[in-house]
Amino acid sequence: MSNDPVVAIVGVTGAVGAEFIATMDRRNFRVGRLKALASARSAGKTVTFRGKEVVIEELTERAFDGVDIALFSAGGSISRKYAPVAVKAGAVVVDNSSAFRMDPNVPLVIPEINAGRIRDHKGIIANPNCAAITALVPLWPIHRENRIKRVIISTYQAASGAGAAAMDELVESTRASLEGRSFEPKVLPLPYAFNLFSHNTAIDPATGYNDEETKVIKETRKIFEDEKIAVGVTCVRVPVLRAHSEAITFECERPIGEDDVRRLLANAPGVRIVDDRVKNYFPMPIDASGQDDVLVGRIRRDLSDPSGHSISMFVAADQLLKGAALNAIQIAELLPQRALA
Ligand code: A2P
Repeated sequence: MSNDPVVAIVGVTGAVGAEFIATMDRRNFRVGRLKALASARSAGKTVTFRGKEVVIEELTERAFDGVDIALFSAGGSISRKYAPVAVKAGAVVVDNSSAFRMDPNVPLVIPEINAGRIRDHKGIIANPNCAAITALVPLWPIHRENRIKRVIISTYQAASGAGAAAMDELVESTRASLEGRSFEPKVLPLPYAFNLFSHNTAIDPATGYNDEETKVIKETRKIFEDEKIAVGVTCVRVPVLRAHSEAITFECERPIGEDDVRRLLANAPGVRIVDDRVKNYFPMPIDASGQDDVLVGRIRRDLSDPSGHSISMFVAADQLLKGAALNAIQIAELLPQRALA
């Protein structure tokens, strides 16, 4: 008998679910038994974990009996309903949805930034929004040394953030467009092939901000534990399959030069500098895909701020890995042994 934890994946057939499995395998995450959970549509099908077929079970109220760690990525409403059930059954939940992120009793964790918060959990730990993770991993080493007063983020977000069906829709609509066929979008609300559009989350008519942008603002403040940091953000969905990119400009309290940023990021965990001006080679989603690190480049003075307090840069990170599954597995790796008993 193994004492290794029983791990449940909720949403195992999804884009993030597949990366949970691959990431656990790649990082030799200890698993006594895997419970693969999805909707009734998938029950009875199988997934492969460490060379063995695991039969997918339907997510029900009884699915968490004997589970030590439950990784959720099946959307906010499933998390809201079933995460408390999993906690009641004795599991620690790492939730990839937005359901609990702003709950003051739920730690919102990026291990490179605030791993210490994990110990405050009361059963649920939230994985931050993918656009927030992508920006905050490289901003944190700078903020820690020279507080960032204000940051402006413009995102170029991939289909993967909207799930496996959205990735399929990008491929299918592109194929239809190339073949001159009409295509009716089913997953995303707007034409995706050879197009881009404002992020598909609901927009607040009063403020003009969509939910994705509001998440980035609120989550930045919670993770940095800095209610005063000013965040401006525009989130855009672009026709890229996976890996989000972001243009980021930030203003620090004290003067900062591009060499300071390079020094602070050179050995920062989870960051890789890709900044080749000679070859005009900078972070690209195609290079970030399948990689653990946030790629950072185009590090340069923001010329609109002659005071020398501001820097602009461009980043790219795999939305399914650091933006979702990898961050969640890193959290699970740090759970104290008692959670695994
Ligand atoms: P299923 O494939 O059975 O529908 P993605 O984020 O890539 O769209 O994936 C969503 C995940 O959430 C899938 O694994 C999907 O399973 C799962 N899911 C969706 N609805 C439910 C539900 N009602 N109960 C359990 N899992 C669900």
